[in-house]
Amino acid sequence: MTQISDLVGKTALVTGGSRGIGREIALELARRGADVAINYFRNGAPARETIGELERLGRHAIAIKANVAEPERVTELFDRIGREFGGLDILVNNAASGVQKPAIELEPRHWDWTMNINTRGPWLCARAAVPLMEGRNGRVINISSLGAQRVMSDYASVGISKAALEALTRYLGVELASRGIRVNCISGGLVRTDALDHFEEADDMMDAALRDTPAGRMVTANDIARVVAFLASDASEMIVGQTIVVDGGMGLVWRTG
Ligand SMILES: NC(=O)c1ccc[n+]([C@@H]2O[C@H](COP(=O)([O-])OP(=O)(O)OC[C@H]3O[C@@H](n4cnc5c(N)ncnc54)[C@H](OP(=O)(O)O)[C@@H]3O)[C@@H](O)[C@H]2O)c1
Repeated sequence: MTQISDLVGKTALVTGGSRGIGREIALELARRGADVAINYFRNGAPARETIGELERLGRHAIAIKANVAEPERVTELFDRIGREFGGLDILVNNAASGVQKPAIELEPRHWDWTMNINTRGPWLCARAAVPLMEGRNGRVINISSLGAQRVMSDYASVGISKAALEALTRYLGVELASRGIRVNCISGGLVRTDALDHFEEADDMMDAALRDTPAGRMVTANDIARVVAFLASDASEMIVGQTIVVDGGMGLVWRTG
């Protein structure tokens, strides 16, 4: 396989980069030459393991614990990035959480929890990243899911937060374009990660996704990571405020609810 080195000399922050899709995004950016900071919330062990992998690729890598929902923690996170990297080229807003219940069974605290991590967090992070991206043609890449546009069972809290994230992408995309910063979003199909353990019918969901994916296989974390790398590269310069769907065509023919 040809090694692509289009991100040599770049610096990146991947929120929720310790495990799952975020981990694979961090590794893909590092394989292409970027130094990478990963952020996590509560679990130090996977973060340390991912840092080891990034360092084995020869990159400068740091892990920073911070809840992206909390403004003070986000300020500290970006202060640390500034001190370690002296600036930031790529921000990937990947961290997410949620409460798996039908919309009418959600409590206000469930709503606030999910919206604050999945929507307010990316907004806070993008706001804090702007000064670090000045003069660097920065990239902000948000990670959404098909539930932003379609209805999945017990997914209301996350789906609504992701719909708002896609709207945030459009607003930030337009606001920041004249400053050389490109803001875009990737909406991914179902990927087997720890997040699916919260769904009782995870295996059935995977079977249905495979059946309904015209491309004939499940989406992998690396499928998403490679599109992140594209959006982080100079090749995507004229893409502004868009959500790119990476689902093997599943959303076009989806039959599940
Ligand atoms: N899996 C899918 O099928 C799928 C499909 C489409 C899109 N997505 C999206 O892809 C992204 C990653 O999903 P995933 O399945 O890889 O998730 P995951 O396996 O549950 O990993 C979540 C990551 O986010 C971190 N995190 C959670 N809450 C946080 C907070 N408040 N502040 C900072 N970090 C926080 C976690 O850190 P700790 O371990 O420390 O808590 C972990 O690193 C999400 O935006 C998700 O919505 C997933």
